[in-house]
Amino acid sequence: MINFSYENPTKTIFGKNAEKHLGQEVKKYGKKILLHYGGGSIKKIGLYDKIIGSLKETGIEIIELGGVVPNPRLSLVKEGIKLCKEEKIDFILAVGGGSVIDSAKAIAVGVPYEGDVWDFYSTNRSPVEALPIGVVLTIPAAGSETSESSVITKEEGGFKRSAGGECMRPQFAIMNPEVTYHLPAYQTACGVSDMLAHLMERYFTQVQNVDLTDRLIEAAMQSILHYGPIVLQTPLDYDARAEIMWAGSMAHSGLLGVGRIGDWASHDIEHELSGVYDIAHGAGLAIVFPAWMKYVYEDNLDRFVQFSTRVMKVDFAMGQREQIIQEGIHRLEHFYKRIGLPTTLKEAGIGKEYLQEMAKKAVLGIEALGQFKKLNAEDILKIYEIALG
Ligand code: NZQ
Ligand code: ZN
Repeated sequence: MINFSYENPTKTIFGKNAEKHLGQEVKKYGKKILLHYGGGSIKKIGLYDKIIGSLKETGIEIIELGGVVPNPRLSLVKEGIKLCKEEKIDFILAVGGGSVIDSAKAIAVGVPYEGDVWDFYSTNRSPVEALPIGVVLTIPAAGSETSESSVITKEEGGFKRSAGGECMRPQFAIMNPEVTYHLPAYQTACGVSDMLAHLMERYFTQVQNVDLTDRLIEAAMQSILHYGPIVLQTPLDYDARAEIMWAGSMAHSGLLGVGRIGDWASHDIEHELSGVYDIAHGAGLAIVFPAWMKYVYEDNLDRFVQFSTRVMKVDFAMGQREQIIQEGIHRLEHFYKRIGLPTTLKEAGIGKEYLQEMAKKAVLGIEALGQFKKLNAEDILKIYEIALG
């Protein structure tokens, strides 16, 4: 295990009617807030009215900015920064999923920054100052409600890039599993895939002697593999929705990554796909992760055997290590199919046209992607080719 320091100051308020605490929480940070949301689902599910009610009770002044789209865009972030400066906003409330939260985070770091906010996304420079933000989560997926990162797409050139810094972590996250009851099945499945990927990115490490976090990650993965299909079959099952919502946050809060070095190549390879093709991040991960596994497993057979046997429950006695690993990957693909996700580029309607360009773009300005196995543009292209199906 390597040395680490860990802190996650985001206060989590979880459970039925959790949003009734909203006004009291927001009051601690601001009097005039930006209410940031997406394309209108919060109105359809009746959450918007509850939020306005809770905020108004405490006399908070609200300026609204809706319209965040999945794979959130830089242009709206810039509009938000301008609005916050003009209106002298002191707090940003994100009501939605990863896209809304990430857009809110970008606005929050852009307000006190004099340069172009894209600087934080196009270089490895971390923001150190931000407006405080809070979250009412509506879809368990990205884990942005407790993470210190944000992913934004610059329309020009289709660059989807992330920025990270402790100042981006939300002050609080309100999570009521009931608000996820009416999520479209496909969005639910994409969320399940994303949280599973956040765990696998951390799990596939070359750092030795990380047994406790291995086992914690395995428990979280198994919970997702178990409850993912249940929330799809019985969307109104509160307990299953609660398990999945909590798993999404646990997967990406940072706790399960301590003492180890995660890989993250699959995420970067996927971000090229959703940057260019605007597909859902979780669907892209269901395509990329198995292909990445097939390409890299030889670099640490033991770790992949551990994954196959402990997580995917492949019987040790079934054969050689390679067979056990292949079966583990096959079971993962089967899981994605079972929850309705594509596992090949072809199934997602993506052909060969931009594979080379995306592979080059993925390592633009850096030497390689990933930590489990360092990948250059040629390696990434091979992974895309495996993913073609
Ligand atoms: O826009 P609205 O109308 O709200 O509809 C959304 C959107 O169409 C809908 N939705 C959300 N909650 C709903 C609902 N529909 C009905 N009922 C509800 N309760 O779901 C759609 C997807 O929303 P989105 O926010 O895009 O989903 P998700 O949470 O998966 O976020 C994806 C984004 O997060 C980034 C991804 O790359 C992607 O851009 N990520 C952010 C991370 C982070 N900041 O730490 C880490 C992740 O790895 C990820 O990269
Ligand atoms: Zn992700």
